[in-house]
Parts: sequence; C-alpha cells; structure tokens
Amino acid sequence: MKTLSAFFLALLIGLPTSAQNFRQLRDVKVNETSLDLSKTNCTVIPRNAMHSRYRLRSLVLPLQLDSVGSQAFFACKGIGGRLRFPATTRVIEASAFNGCSKLRELSFEGTTRLAPFAFANCSGLRTVRLSALVPPACADNAFDGIDLRRVELIVPERARKDYRRAPGWRHFFAKKETANVCCPEEILVPQPLTLEVFPEETFEEAAESSGKRKRIRHRPLTWAEVIGVEAPQELNNEKLQAERILAERTAYMKVRRKTGPTIQLQLDASLPNDEAYTLDISKKGVVLKGKTAAGVFRGLMTLEQLCIGNGTGVRSEKIPALHIADQPRTPIRELMVDPVRHFIPFADLKAFVVEMARYKYNALHLHLVDDQGWRIEIKKYPQLTQKASDRVGMDDMPERISGFYTQAQMRELVRFAAQYHVMIIPEIELPGHEVAAVHCFPQLSCAKKTVPIRLTCGVSNELLCPAEPFVYEFLDNVLTELADVFPAPYVHLGGDEAGQPPLGAWSDCPACQELKRKEGYMENWQLQQYLFDRVIDRLKALKKTPMYWYEQEFKTIQPGCVVYAWRHGLTKTAIDAAVRNKAQIMLCPGEHCYLDYPQQRGDMPEVNWGMPVTTLQQTYRLDPAWGQDSTFVRENLLGVSGTLWSECINSTERIYYQAFPRAAALAEAGWSYPSRRNYTDFLRRLRPLTDDQQRRGIAVNLSEGLTKE
Ligand code: ACM
Ligand code: ZN
Repeated sequence: MKTLSAFFLALLIGLPTSAQNFRQLRDVKVNETSLDLSKTNCTVIPRNAMHSRYRLRSLVLPLQLDSVGSQAFFACKGIGGRLRFPATTRVIEASAFNGCSKLRELSFEGTTRLAPFAFANCSGLRTVRLSALVPPACADNAFDGIDLRRVELIVPERARKDYRRAPGWRHFFAKKETANVCCPEEILVPQPLTLEVFPEETFEEAAESSGKRKRIRHRPLTWAEVIGVEAPQELNNEKLQAERILAERTAYMKVRRKTGPTIQLQLDASLPNDEAYTLDISKKGVVLKGKTAAGVFRGLMTLEQLCIGNGTGVRSEKIPALHIADQPRTPIRELMVDPVRHFIPFADLKAFVVEMARYKYNALHLHLVDDQGWRIEIKKYPQLTQKASDRVGMDDMPERISGFYTQAQMRELVRFAAQYHVMIIPEIELPGHEVAAVHCFPQLSCAKKTVPIRLTCGVSNELLCPAEPFVYEFLDNVLTELADVFPAPYVHLGGDEAGQPPLGAWSDCPACQELKRKEGYMENWQLQQYLFDRVIDRLKALKKTPMYWYEQEFKTIQPGCVVYAWRHGLTKTAIDAAVRNKAQIMLCPGEHCYLDYPQQRGDMPEVNWGMPVTTLQQTYRLDPAWGQDSTFVRENLLGVSGTLWSECINSTERIYYQAFPRAAALAEAGWSYPSRRNYTDFLRRLRPLTDDQQRRGIAVNLSEGLTKE
C-alpha cells in the first residue's frame, strides 16, 4: 500500500489546513491508497477534500479533528475498517461519507453532530459506538440507505433509553418513518406551465345539465388501491416506466384485484407540442395524455417527482387531486459531457441519462474527440482508438486515462437513452482540437509532422489542413460511420478555438496559401468556410443537420446549420449572426451554462485558469430568449445546453457534483415559461429533489442553502 509521501504530509503539518492542500492529496497524489492524518495538526477537513477518491483504502483521522466538510469523502468506496472520531469532533457535514460502502465501524468519542446523509449508503457498516451519555444531534437521515438491522449500535447502558428516542439514532432500534407528504407546489422542477391542486374539502358546484347544485369532494389518490397501468401498445416503454415508478416510489402493491384506480397512459393528437402532456390525478386514478410517447414520458417524470413528496425517502401513500397541462418553452434541452479529457465509463454514461431525464432534458451531447484523445471506434481507422485513447496525465494530475466507446456500445446507449426520450448528439472537432487525429494521421495537418497527444488543457495550433485531400476523405469516412451509429438528426462539428491566433496556422502552410490563391480568397476565414462548406454538404447528404460552436471567425452561417452561443460576453453577437443568417441557435453562454466552472469561490474544481464562479442563481437567471422578441424565439431559438468539460473533472461523481443542481436550474430555464419562474420558489422546490439525489448516493453541490436540517 502506498502511503502519502513526506512532502505531502508536510503540506499538512504546521500549515493551516487549506482546500489547496487537500486538492493536492485528492487530485495530484492520485495513486496513493492510504491517508494518515494522525500526525498532522489538521483540524478541519474541508468540504470535498477527498471527493470520490476510489483508490483510497485506509484513512486515519486527525487526533484534534474539529469537523469534516460536506462530501469530504463522498464515494470513497475503498476505505475499509474503522474510523475513530476524537472527542474534539464537533460536526460531520452533509454526505461527508455518503457511499463509503466498505466502512465497517464508526466510533464517536464525543458529541459529534451528524448532518443529513453524513453516512448514507455506507452499506458495509456493522458497528457504531458512541460514548456520549446524551445522544448527539443526528439528522434523521444521517444513515439513510443502510439496513440498520445489520448494524450494532453500542452506547452507554444507562443512555440506551435516550438513544432509542433520539432523532437519527432511533432508527437503529426500529425504523420509524416520517410521513411522505406531497405538496405539488413545492416539488416540481422544472415548473409546469399550469398546475391546479384540488384541496380535499367538500364544496358545491352547479351540475351541467339540470342547473341543480351537486356536492363534490376531491379526494386524493391512494396508491395502495391502484390496480395497475393501462396503455396502448405504442406506449409500452412508458407503461414499463410507470410500473417502475409505482414499484420504486409508491405504496402500490401488485395484487390481483379487478377494480380500483388505474394509471391510464394515452396519446392525444390535439395537444400543442410533441412533448406536451396533461396529467390528471383524482381518487379514480391517473390519466396522463401526451401528444407523443415523449410527451407521456415527460409527464411520467412529473409524476415521479410528485411521488418524492417532501423528500423523506418513504414511499408515497397519497397524492392530492390535481390537473397539470405542460409543454416546453424550447425544443432542445441538452447537457454536454466530455469523455476525452477524463474518460467516462460506459455504464456511467447510461446512468447520467437517467438523471438528466428527471429534469426533462432531451439530448446528451457527447464530445468524443479532442487534442487529448479519440474516444469513438471508427471501423475504417482502428488506429484512432488504438493510438489515441490511452494517455497518462491531465495537467498536474498524473493518472492514467484510457478508454473508448465501441460502436456497439454507442448503439446500446442510443437505444437505452431512447427509453428516456433523450437523443445522443455526437461531436467530432474540426479544424482545431484535433491533435489526437493528427497524432494518428500526421497527413491531416498542415505541418504533416507526428505530434504527441496533448497532456494539458488549452488551445493547439495543430489544425486540419483545408488544402489536404485526405482531410475530406477522412472526415467523410468518419461522419458516414457516425451518422449510421447515431440516429439523432444532428451532428456537431466543433469549430471552436482553432488555434491562437485563430486560424493562424494556415498562414504558414504553402498548400493553404495556394488554395487561397486558387479560390481568390483574401483571408483565412474563407478557408474555414471552404472546409466547413464541404463537410456540411456531406452531412446534409447523410440527412444530418450540422451544428457548431459559434466563433466570430465564421463570417456567415451556412443555411440550415445550428450554432452554439458559448463565449462569455458574445451571446448577442452570436444571436445577431444567427438571425442575420436565418440559422437556429443553442444558448450555452459561459456566464450561465458552463457547469464545469466552480459554483462558489474555492469550490471544486479548485484549479483555475480564469474560470469565473457560476452560482446556482446565475445559472437560473439564464433567459434562453436573451431579451429578444417572440420572432427570435419562434424562428431561431432551438434550446439550451449545459457544458461539463472534463479537464478538471476526474470522476463520474464529480460530473454530478458540477452538474447538479445547476442542471436543474438550466432545465427550468429551458423548459418553463418566464411567468412561472422564480428563484426563491425554485430553491424551495429543489430541496426535496437534492435530498432524494443524496439518498440515492448521487453527488450534488449543496453550497447554496441546500444543507439545512
Ligand atoms: C468551448 O468551450 N471551447 C466550446
Ligand atoms: Zn494547410
């Protein structure tokens, strides 16, 4: 077992403990498996200190420990054995050890307060010892997700009675659940277009035909009475989803009864939009109608959130009668992930789709190619993944980062995501961010020299050469295979950051200069246009709509293309270009939508090359219409995108940490109409959802008022 070197321990001895020191331990000393803090004078272990360090096997806490910050050891799945919390330990914050599934024993020598989900999902736990005579404050869900019948709680004999009654600790004796109460106004994200809740009191209403008054009472739906789901054949997938929700989230029991409330899933062509749906709940059951299966599915995600109720984790018993009519404001709500800089295991991609779908996202954009690697199998060019999908190091992180997706896996992802009505949009980059391809095929670049795979972030000057015939042959073959694997109508072509200065490399290339002369071009952007025109023609022949990151170097946008407004401060410029060229636009301005940026000062990722802080509120504030008129919304606005570039994100848990809850805020920006949006209200609705996420062991950033007990 490798133990932390003297140098890194010295960082902690005699120095005030800082997040920076722990950043070194977590991200730079990635191959260490043991962390012994007993010889340091560290007292505060900051939040996220060792977040998702799977390789850590043993941990010894400081002798003068004061506190452990939220998610400090989140998903440190390898830490085994016993943890001793000295009498000085005041508090273990939310989700600090959530998911440490190999921990066997905890021992508290003082009155340490345990925050929500502090030890949730520590499923290997067998013993918890406390010496305090008065039970320390413990959140009722501190040990959520653990079968506590398998855990022995050892407390002083004379205090046993008090522990039996104390919040949090009482569950070790017999699990007493808090009721799951559903207040529909306090749970849904994104907020639906209309929501009418019918309280249970009795009232009178004029009967339609006779004019006489009749007594009406809106009773809630009782899940235990529900007999099942009914749906036409076309909604078979949605029927399975509805049955899953019933089984996982409600008190429904599968018993054979002939009569009782049902869940009816139906198609209704009169609805205004493919994703539009209506949801009616009454004592008689649920009627969910969508214009398409996608609409029905979005409605099911609403139903599932309603079942989360107040977020206690108990299955929903009842749902009040209600009516919802809902539809999205923008057609595409996507998240983009980057498996190039840090690879994302295939199974984790699938799991991410499930989380996105909860917030009604309908696209996952995969950034498959960049300077640091090539991550998609291309059958015509096996060299790409043989030579460019395995590297050691990303900036100062010396870890081995390898892997690629086979076409068979991508087809499986497409099928899987389709069950959640999420399409997969592939991206390959041109003409920049292509070092991995050039590494395999030097002929693609102007210099025709072999270059190493890039190990650092930043912008490379190694560009595809628009004067090189093989470039077109290569892209043609790659795009043809991609078009076959990914049925989505879109293919993203990159287009961003093509050298520094932009497109400058082409000025040094005789072939490029010759092409310019031949075509009568004066400037390099015309070469870019030439390259894109040829590739776009090919994509159109493949029946795909091209997308690309908008840069000012694009002087025109080809008809039928979609551009992404991403650069901080240049959104209006990109919008003007889209309007001028009658193009569609996705909004992902860095100020709101770059979810790889830290959510608060000092937060992960602590390394910073000038990334601004993007708070939850800042993400929420995105106006997808950017203040433009309804013509822009109708003619040009395609949707919103949240990016999760992975230069600094080195685990799947950290993708979730960066994404959520800001992705929930962005989903509401993309889905909900402005009249329905309010930040304070959003925060209130979000809380049960982030509780649910922690309960399921999924990382979430809690820095903005989401940790209160
Ligand atoms: C980008 O962030 N380079 C699109
Ligand atoms: Zn060239």
